[in-house]
Amino acid sequence: MNGHIPIRLSRIKYKEEARKLLFKYAEAAKKMIDSRNATPDSRKVVKWNAEDTMNWLRRDHSASKEDYMDRLDHLRKQCGPHVAAVAKDSVEGICTKIYHISAEYVRRIHQTHQALLKDCNVSDPEAAEVQDRLVYCYPVRLALPSPAQPRVELHFENDIACLRYKGEMVKVNRSYFAKLELLYRYSCIDDPRFQKFLSRVWCLIKRYQVMFGAGVNEGTGLQGALPVPVFEALNKQFGVTFECFASPLNSYFKQFCSAFPDTDGFFGSRGPFLNFSPASGSFEANPPFSEELMDAMVTHFEKLLEKSSEPLSFIIFVPEWRDPLTPALHRMETSAFRRHQMSVPAFEHEYRSGSQHICKKEEMYYKAVHGTVVIFLQNAAGFAKWEPTPERVQELLAAYQVCRRALGSPGPSSAPTTPTPASAGGSGDKDSIAAKTAPERSASLDTSPASQDNNSSSSSPVEKTTPPPETASV
Ligand SMILES: C[S@@+](CC[C@H](N)C(=O)[O-])C[C@H]1O[C@@H](n2cnc3c(N)ncnc32)[C@H](O)[C@@H]1O
Repeated sequence: MNGHIPIRLSRIKYKEEARKLLFKYAEAAKKMIDSRNATPDSRKVVKWNAEDTMNWLRRDHSASKEDYMDRLDHLRKQCGPHVAAVAKDSVEGICTKIYHISAEYVRRIHQTHQALLKDCNVSDPEAAEVQDRLVYCYPVRLALPSPAQPRVELHFENDIACLRYKGEMVKVNRSYFAKLELLYRYSCIDDPRFQKFLSRVWCLIKRYQVMFGAGVNEGTGLQGALPVPVFEALNKQFGVTFECFASPLNSYFKQFCSAFPDTDGFFGSRGPFLNFSPASGSFEANPPFSEELMDAMVTHFEKLLEKSSEPLSFIIFVPEWRDPLTPALHRMETSAFRRHQMSVPAFEHEYRSGSQHICKKEEMYYKAVHGTVVIFLQNAAGFAKWEPTPERVQELLAAYQVCRRALGSPGPSSAPTTPTPASAGGSGDKDSIAAKTAPERSASLDTSPASQDNNSSSSSPVEKTTPPPETASV
């Protein structure tokens, strides 16, 4: 992206695309300088360059993709500083406005929160002390006792659970509703009789609905998950028992980190990954494809691996973006902890839909349009325990093949999968939540990797962690 004019400038494949971008950039620069308070000099430079480019585009039909990209580069250098200067004021104005609106919302939420606590006779405790010690990994818990919850009604429409609160309905497929029940049973300690379960499910689904956005399929790209056979292979071959990036809706394991500790903690979340400091264990990470988050994730991996002498292993799945190379991928490829890496080519593997909890069967899997790089970062003890030997790596790759065979390969439309945790059931895997919600296994999934070398059984189902401040105080 370009800083001041939002046009994608990398990963351009075709000449026509480059030509269109150049035109768009010239047009946007001209419009921007015309519509804002620019100095006469800035206006002159930008207008001259933009018009010169447009004339060149009208005249020249034989240019190559490289010619267009060179010209775009030149235009950006000429116009960029002037456009950035005029954009600065309005961007800062917009940001300031957003900041003030957000601060006002935070103030109102805080006020409502305090009023609710007062109504329910719950007093705000002193900030809990942060303890820096090793503990077994547990879900995030709220420091305050939860007051009585408002009534949420549940009914089923065919295979869909519908939860209604004050006339507002949220929906989730029946089998995912059952999965949430199971996660709640495992993780929630303050509600053994499930009296707050429905309202907590309602809040959870509502939160993710808001995060997804209002448009059709909006936001689902950030929630795509690895196929179930791949998770099974990770567990069997490398003792993986934990997802670093997940939600209660898309998690395969019952232990995971997620973005929203307040709503997800009741369902097993250990909070946001960057606040989570495991000392040992075997982890899978399929982060949202945000370059900044992936970069911060690598910094966190490195810090954790440096600090711990207990077995610690991360198996990471990121898009193979090389044009330009993303900082996260570059840093992992050159990391001292990198033990192995492999690529799964574009269009030869699938992801599970980001809306797996509510989508139709035939929409459950989609083909990846980018390659996926799988990287193993391990400290010495982690390498000794979960070494990516050729045989284990082969099993992992074979799991991707299993998915393709089971899905009938040509693509999402022909995928005869069962979009439920029920069909996702593993082969007796004690750490997967899928296995626990599986009354039956889908006949179409051949999910038993050849090797039964299950070193996960020797690993603890819970990982040792140093509780982050959030864990101690919420
Ligand atoms: C690509 S999906 C991963 C799906 C699946 N759990 C997997 O590992 O294949 C990324 C998930 O990370 C969650 N997420 C976003 N920010 C996070 C954070 N800071 N810590 C943990 N999870 C986060 C998203 O809500 C989303 O559910």
